[in-house]
Amino acid sequence: MVSVINSIFIAFIKLLPKSLVSIFAKQYVAGEHIDDVLKVVEKLNNSGYKATVDILGEHFSDKSKINNIISEYNMLYKLIKKNEFDANISIKPTHIGLDISYDHCLNSFKNILRNAEKYDNFLRIDMESSKATDDTIKIYKELVASSCNVGPVFQAYLNRTYSDIQNTENKEKLNFRLCKGIYKESPDIAITDYHEVNKNYLKILEYAFQHNIYIGIATHDKTLIDQCYQLINKYDVDSEMFEFQVLYGVPMDGYLEKHKENNYNVRVYVPYGKQWYEYSIRRIKENPNILLYVLKNLFKQ
Ligand code: FDA
Repeated sequence: MVSVINSIFIAFIKLLPKSLVSIFAKQYVAGEHIDDVLKVVEKLNNSGYKATVDILGEHFSDKSKINNIISEYNMLYKLIKKNEFDANISIKPTHIGLDISYDHCLNSFKNILRNAEKYDNFLRIDMESSKATDDTIKIYKELVASSCNVGPVFQAYLNRTYSDIQNTENKEKLNFRLCKGIYKESPDIAITDYHEVNKNYLKILEYAFQHNIYIGIATHDKTLIDQCYQLINKYDVDSEMFEFQVLYGVPMDGYLEKHKENNYNVRVYVPYGKQWYEYSIRRIKENPNILLYVLKNLFKQ
């Protein structure tokens, strides 16, 4: 029954007019062009937040389009440096060639990582669905062997994640983002219960603190954030060993200010690009309440 309701809902979402979705997108996406995202990054930096920039898009298999994306990422590194912004870059493997082949994707990452190093910046490899997990971890391991400017993302909902982290060599170089995980995965490989996902999240966070691993704590879940605070206090973790991360536009009910009061670093994930429509539909499907939230805010003004 639930899956029937889901299918009806998803069919309904696809019927939403682009103009309505664009109202929603304005809150969650910086815009279509590089100038748009640089303006948002500047604003965030001026308010005391770091940023990580993502060009929207996934599952590209056209080589010339992939080359354009690589050039745009390289240009971003250059402009971030030129403007002295506090921002790095997050990239999805299937955006730069994983659907073509492992080697194609690895070479794309190598190209971009050279620029991350050249401009003294950092490359975050986003984690996609479990189909890509093995390859993504392998790519990370190849890249980190000769660079300190790259880090992966791990998803707390995957059963494998704790041991993936334990099995990562060169822990002194490890710098990862921890998120719950956004893709629909089979219960054979993923934890589906909210409380169990949070339990695993905290177990992984504790592991990072115990092993001096730099961690990006990416969540909007206030109950979980309170529990992360408890672990930070328990281990008396230096605030240079972690940062909180949020998606641009997600309401945080005072928690961003709370992080700042504690002198904890906060990084905002800022997506931009021509694929804003597809991204927005994905966000709405993930959390339909946000459509209502945006509409309510719209009529309040
Ligand atoms: P949870 O889902 O419990 O949500 C907590 C609260 O926040 C709820 O009240 C919810 O309504 C609200 N909320 C959550 N998301 C919202 C949204 N988009 N808009 C409005 N309200 C929202 N995933 C992945 O698989 N690979 C990745 O690489 C990344 N990268 C990433 C980077 C950053 C910086 C963040 C914050 C998140 C990701 N994610 C991700 C997504 C992550 O896995 C997860 O799906 C979402 O963050 C939602 O989970 P929460 O931890 O926020 O908790």
